[in-house]
Amino acid sequence: MVFLVVFPWMAAFAWNFSQDFDITWGSDRVRILDKGEQITLSLDKDSGSAFQSKNEYLFSNISVQLKLVPGNSAGTVTSYYLTSKESTWDEIDFEFLGNLSGDPYTVHTNVITGGKGDREQQFHLWYDPTADFHTYSILWNPHVIM
Ligand SMILES: *[C@@H]1O[C@H](CO)[C@@H](O)[C@H](O)[C@H]1NC(C)=O
Ligand SMILES: *[C@@H]1O[C@H](CO)[C@@H](O)[C@H](O)[C@H]1NC(C)=O
Repeated sequence: MVFLVVFPWMAAFAWNFSQDFDITWGSDRVRILDKGEQITLSLDKDSGSAFQSKNEYLFSNISVQLKLVPGNSAGTVTSYYLTSKESTWDEIDFEFLGNLSGDPYTVHTNVITGGKGDREQQFHLWYDPTADFHTYSILWNPHVIM
């Protein structure tokens, strides 16, 4: 699996960025900090930004720190996902669907194996995901995906 990330807002990441990742979109909204140990992605009124891993990973526990778009975020989708490079379509998704001011974000997850999804789950967060960074992890190994 290759690690793909699309964040319209901001993210902080602890890896060596320039060695391990490529910026795939919105490079003027990407800032590389601490000699590649951290990166922030941002959304302005025009567009967002994204990066993706150069390497593939068979199993992992991947965590991303995210702070979502505050206020009226209706129409924005902040996502990070893992996807296969090969012809078999495998994917694990985390999507944060924005909402009007005061209404809760919806977190939408899905797992696709061999092109087959239908494992969507949706829920509202019990805290304000726009007030601070929170860590969102995907753990997958031969036994579980969580
Ligand atoms: C996965 O990473 C998160 C964040 O670092 C951590 O809280 C969690 O315990 C890890 N899970 C496992 C099974 O290692
Ligand atoms: C927006 O908030 C409303 C009211 O709580 C909720 O019913 C709806 O599912 C939310 N929509 C999204 C996209 O999160």
